[in-house]
Amino acid sequence: MVRLLVPLLSLITRVCAIQIPFQRPQFSKGTLITPEIDTFVNSQLSLWNSSGLSVAVVRQDTSASGTWNIEFGSYGTAQADGSPVTPDTLFAIASNSKLFLSISVGLLIKNESLAAARGEKLRWDTKIKDVLPEWGLMDEDMQNGVMIQDMLSHRTGLPRHDYSAFTREGGVSEMISTMRFLRPSAELRERYQYNNLMYETLSHLPPTLLNQTYESYITEHLFSPLGMASSTYSVAEAEERGTLAHGFHWDMQDYLFGLNGTRTATVPYFHRPGEEKIWAGAGGVLTSARDLSVWVAMLLNNGRHPSTNETVVPEDVVEHVALGVSVQRGKATYPELSPKVYGCGQDRYSYRGYELIEHGGSNPGFKTQVTRFPNNNLGVIVLSNDENGNSLMETVKWRIIDHVFDLEPIDWTKRYADSLAKNIRENQAVTPRPSPAVLPSAPFSTMEGTFSHGAYGPFQPCFVQSKSTGLSAACTALINTPVVQRILGSSGSSKDSIPTFIVPFKRWFSTHLRFAHFAGNTFNVSLIWSNAEARKAEGYPEGGDVLVGLDDRYEVEWVGGTDADGEEGWAFKGNFWGKEGDVRPLEGVGKDAAEVWFGRV
Ligand SMILES: *[C@@H]1O[C@H](CO)[C@@H](O)[C@H](O)[C@H]1NC(C)=O
Ligand SMILES: *[C@@H]1O[C@H](CO)[C@@H](O)[C@H](O)[C@H]1NC(C)=O
Ligand SMILES: *[C@@H]1O[C@H](CO)[C@@H](O)[C@H](O)[C@H]1NC(C)=O
Ligand SMILES: *[C@@H]1O[C@H](CO)[C@@H](O)[C@H](O)[C@H]1NC(C)=O
Ligand SMILES: *[C@@H]1O[C@H](CO)[C@@H](O)[C@H](O)[C@H]1NC(C)=O
Ligand SMILES: *[C@@H]1O[C@H](CO)[C@@H](O)[C@H](O)[C@H]1NC(C)=O
Repeated sequence: MVRLLVPLLSLITRVCAIQIPFQRPQFSKGTLITPEIDTFVNSQLSLWNSSGLSVAVVRQDTSASGTWNIEFGSYGTAQADGSPVTPDTLFAIASNSKLFLSISVGLLIKNESLAAARGEKLRWDTKIKDVLPEWGLMDEDMQNGVMIQDMLSHRTGLPRHDYSAFTREGGVSEMISTMRFLRPSAELRERYQYNNLMYETLSHLPPTLLNQTYESYITEHLFSPLGMASSTYSVAEAEERGTLAHGFHWDMQDYLFGLNGTRTATVPYFHRPGEEKIWAGAGGVLTSARDLSVWVAMLLNNGRHPSTNETVVPEDVVEHVALGVSVQRGKATYPELSPKVYGCGQDRYSYRGYELIEHGGSNPGFKTQVTRFPNNNLGVIVLSNDENGNSLMETVKWRIIDHVFDLEPIDWTKRYADSLAKNIRENQAVTPRPSPAVLPSAPFSTMEGTFSHGAYGPFQPCFVQSKSTGLSAACTALINTPVVQRILGSSGSSKDSIPTFIVPFKRWFSTHLRFAHFAGNTFNVSLIWSNAEARKAEGYPEGGDVLVGLDDRYEVEWVGGTDADGEEGWAFKGNFWGKEGDVRPLEGVGKDAAEVWFGRV
């Protein structure tokens, strides 16, 4: 009964509320985030050993006044010195930035003067090749066929290729021009495969069409009209203000060896000032729970400012971006959930009969979730500064929703703990390296040199024979850096007498690769990120570094001039490219079977 009644009631109040003048958002602490919820969140923080959590709940008053109730919950620590989270603490909201991008595309589509100047309208089904001269893909049909809608709904056929991301002199324009070197994993519109590069590409529309930076376009048309004064894309600005939370990582976590790691503040932020620009469209917004509460109220209010009722985003754009286009998940993961569809930077599914629209975000050290129930006038924003904060965030989100809808709470904590334990077990289900060792077809030392990929850039592997024997001369300096010493001191590589390569691989989400020999020409790869060098460069005291990714595992095969083209290089596998779903495996051997191929140069 409860399920049916609540949506009906709020439908009625929604219709009534429209005739009533809007007022400024008010605080009415305690109805949405009750003292019981405060207690629950604090117990969750200690259960998951987590750092901090910032929560905002937004709901239009169900009484006749029509005012917006906005409540904040601030828990735990924002920064290494123990300073507390507040509603104004800035978080990297990561992929929750994608909705700003999708809406910017919608605003350009609705722009009449732009259409007049171009002589044609921009449309959701405009082919991107007709707008961006830099555009190109490996597959010609895909290159010619991709529409803006396909990019926003993650159905171009390109897998993530996230590890190709680094700061480029020529910005987004240069990044777009390297996409032609990335191998697709499905056909155009075959299936949903999440892809950040497409959102980065679309951030090039304001520069191309209006000679305006993407960041200033968003500031002018979204942040400013909504009074989101603390929202920014600038890492320098956020750091100068001193309110940017520190993302906490679990230093030296390696679930394969049962190591949870040590929770450590990641100082400084993973992008240094000036490095963040390409990331803006896919994940660059730095903002607070307070600013996001206005953003979500605007979305619930069909694009109109919650206090002035002025249109900030046309209603049909708010509607369009939330309309499912791709099947994100064809099967529900829990009985209370429905399958999920994906629109433009928005997931859509239902929870216990209530339809919701949301998106998650994941940046190094930050996890975020922004959820709204369009038919029930409810928004829930949860921001975590813990790399492992996903479970915590979800339990808090569901607990608040159960409370607001007056439903019997579900024990999500147990479910997420079980699911984490299962993931750890799966991570540990590895095949041991054969003993005696099955050596590769060529000596390890011949696998050194310079190798390169058109989009991922170059690398130079250094061979570490074993702890007891010497190092290759050219690589001694690298091997002696403190960060590499920490990598080599960890289990599963040279420490355990496994022949190992260390590969400097400074990208956004990595600094080093570790190749640990498995059998024949196959190596196990760890994608490692450390802030040791960034800290040293900026004069932070020694110690306090973060090193993560030891259990972030892939595979690489040495191809020693034996394939048809006689080429030498490294063939990455094991879903290094980040495809989604059960699409056809790559056929062939050597280079042909590589998700990402680094050939000798
Ligand atoms: C807000 O604006 C819409 C569209 O103009 C209008 O239909 C509605 O009545 C307005 N609401 C209030 C409270 O003024
Ligand atoms: C939290 O840390 C304690 C040790 O400080 C440990 O016993 C416990 O297992 C940890 N809990 C989780 C969920 O990692
Ligand atoms: C619309 O296009 C004009 C140029 O034709 C530009 O000045 C204006 O800023 C654009 N507005 C939006 C919301 O895109
Ligand atoms: C684009 O804007 C810059 C300054 O923002 C200006 O110098 C340049 O002339 C503009 N280009 C065009 C084609 O309008
Ligand atoms: C690691 O975390 C798990 C829970 O996720 C806990 O059961 C275990 O005791 C922790 N191990 C250590 C050594 O703290
Ligand atoms: C190393 O790679 C092999 C071959 O794919 C795999 O069977 C094994 O489980 C991997 N080991 C680790 C530690 O990832």
